[in-house]
Amino acid sequence: MSDIVEKLTSFSKHFNTDLEKCFPFADGAENRVIEAMKYSVMNGGKRLRPYLLCKCAELFDVDYKTAFPAAASLEMLHSYSLIHDDLPAMDNDDLRRGKPTCHKQFDEATAILAGDGLLTYAFEYLSNALVIRPEIRLALIQLLSSAAGAFKGMVSGQTLDIYATSTGNTQKDEEIISRLEEMKTGRLLRYACEAGAVLGKADIEKRNVLISYSRKIGQAFQIADDILDREGDQKLVGKTLHKDDAQSKFTFVSYYGIEPARQKAKQLIEQAIDEISVFGDKAIDLQNLARYIVERQY
Ligand code: IPE
Ligand code: IPE
Ligand code: MG
Ligand code: MG
Ligand code: MG
Repeated sequence: MSDIVEKLTSFSKHFNTDLEKCFPFADGAENRVIEAMKYSVMNGGKRLRPYLLCKCAELFDVDYKTAFPAAASLEMLHSYSLIHDDLPAMDNDDLRRGKPTCHKQFDEATAILAGDGLLTYAFEYLSNALVIRPEIRLALIQLLSSAAGAFKGMVSGQTLDIYATSTGNTQKDEEIISRLEEMKTGRLLRYACEAGAVLGKADIEKRNVLISYSRKIGQAFQIADDILDREGDQKLVGKTLHKDDAQSKFTFVSYYGIEPARQKAKQLIEQAIDEISVFGDKAIDLQNLARYIVERQY
């Protein structure tokens, strides 16, 4: 556990230095929105998605420099999703990554625009990445847009998160929760893994292995997030806790209770680790990352 935490921390240091350079100084009063974008993106996230992307790419000998634009654009897009997720009309959160949320630090209009700006800039940045061959760049843009979008992507998941309620039918409810989590959290994590495979021109079998791995860690990741909301340490988590129950969120944890959820997450992680055994020792960091996802304190 401590080894993967060290690796993630050291990766984040390099990644943050490079990510900051993606935001050149802009002049004029419109600079406010760029300040808000930078504030949110450079605000101390775990950088789990970029790390995952770079590690999956590394399985196919793709170096960090080539994977970076895909990782950076994914983190920009993820940061946009958090800014909008925190808005008063959505989860109405004041705290993110231990600091005031974007709309608290700036104002609501600026936060909406900063989200729009990050979403758009993610695609601008990726499409301009000359270190990635044009046909691979296009494939990544297609994958990222569908992962983020409203057709079974993150936006669909967020819609279910806001509006889904119990149907009273256990099987249907289970299906709703699993679709909700797969789309809202799972799709971007799946993209991180799939992008690594695409960058590395992996064959379909290996790509599918990474997709299966991502599905398992994706569900476990959201269960861990929901458990942290219930019983985490607010200082470590950096978000206001006990919000899911207060807002009647329909989650695996709220539906089944914390212990069954914890067991489910553990099971998923064992399955995820099993999935990537075909990569042998090359996938050790991905195995440890899977464990970290459920053991993390924030
Ligand atoms: C939080 O994601 C949002 C969810 C999908 C649950 P992370 O826990 O990866 O957030 P940061 O980027 O580290 O702040
Ligand atoms: C947010 O899920 C997922 C996305 C932003 C797509 P949550 O609402 O549970 O995330 P937190 O707990 O606010 O980070
Ligand atoms: Mg939410
Ligand atoms: Mg939220
Ligand atoms: Mg949450």
